[in-house]
Amino acid sequence: MSDPILPGATIGVLGSGQLGRMLALAARRMGYRIHTFSPEAETPTGQVADLEVVADYADLEAVRAFARGVDVVTFEFENVLSATAQAAAEYVPVRPAGAVLHTTQHRLREKTFLARAGFPVTPFQPIRSLADLHQALQSLGTPAVLKTAGFGYDGKGQVKIAAPAEANSAWQAIGGQEALLEAFVDFEREVSVVAARGLDGAFAHYGVIENAHRNHILDVSLAPSALPPALAAEAVEVARGILDALNVVGVLCVEFFVTRAGTLLVNELAPRPHNSGHLTIDACVTSQFEQQLRAVCGLPLGSTEQLRPAAMANLLGDLWQAGEPDWAAASAFPTVKLHLYGKQQARAGRKMGHLTALAASAVEAAQMVRVAREALTPATEVSS
Ligand SMILES: Nc1ncnc2c1ncn2[C@@H]1O[C@H](COP(=O)(O)OP(=O)(O)O)[C@@H](O)[C@H]1O
Ligand SMILES: [Mg+2]
Repeated sequence: MSDPILPGATIGVLGSGQLGRMLALAARRMGYRIHTFSPEAETPTGQVADLEVVADYADLEAVRAFARGVDVVTFEFENVLSATAQAAAEYVPVRPAGAVLHTTQHRLREKTFLARAGFPVTPFQPIRSLADLHQALQSLGTPAVLKTAGFGYDGKGQVKIAAPAEANSAWQAIGGQEALLEAFVDFEREVSVVAARGLDGAFAHYGVIENAHRNHILDVSLAPSALPPALAAEAVEVARGILDALNVVGVLCVEFFVTRAGTLLVNELAPRPHNSGHLTIDACVTSQFEQQLRAVCGLPLGSTEQLRPAAMANLLGDLWQAGEPDWAAASAFPTVKLHLYGKQQARAGRKMGHLTALAASAVEAAQMVRVAREALTPATEVSS
């Protein structure tokens, strides 16, 4: 095994959003330098990085120059082109490898990989034409969800189909591009397992995190989850199997549906720290971001022990509608932690920050974090 990359070295991150920012903060705390690469300037990651490179992901000469200036490349944005990861890999290790990105950035490749490897997935069919869609609606039934194969996140590129008659409009809505149709899962709950795999194949996980979505965007996560221990252990084993099968070096999150029959279905994978794992920053010995850093640097993984039950609530741009949120009000909760990502524009649905609450139980923490978030905005009736 190659020598570990030690403090003083420079981490290169492709992408410049909040995930890169929180990785950068963990890296800087441990004495690493951090460079970020993305098409944007003044970014959440760039604000806290040693160097912010602004160039297109397709500008392979810029990617090569970036790679020459760092000791390892990782990413926080999974839609980076394969060619970009390959160009970087000419100079330094890219972790996780470009092949992991290639599989997970495309829903059809990802689901096909999972199904072939024997992991439980939502029933799906590839869609490349309107005729495919009509046929798939016949065999999978309705309701169903049509999802674009590439570039989906936070519910973007998805249309729910309630009846076969909606096929045309759904196909139009996604722009008639390569897609997949999934059976709609009437799930009992959604959970995720954030896990890490080291350069030596070591595995670590944060247990099962429970997630509530609003408008297809993660709203609140809590841990530990109340899932029966046997099912929780099964979810962790599925995650372990996936990280091994993909030969991941880094952090990967597996999103699951828990069906009403009490079985697990993998919804999707994220080959990087995940929104549902943000609570690990305040609640665990090693955050998911420090874990990513350790893994990609070839260091031993840190303890994932959770010190206190916790819950996280996302702060979306919608919160800014009536002006700047009342930060002092959130500070009035002594066990609620505020995280803001430094984004200039508060657009509806945009992830601007999050709150994490620590309490005696996960349920209590979830109540507290919701109350704290409500305290950020004055009651709408009162505003003129
Ligand atoms: N097949 C499905 N059945 C039921 N709900 C779904 C299905 N697919 C997606 N959803 C809902 O939409 C959310 C976002 O979908 P997901 O596939 O995870 O895409 P994204 O990349 O946008 O996170 C899920 O967490 C879930 O709440
Ligand atoms: Mg998702």
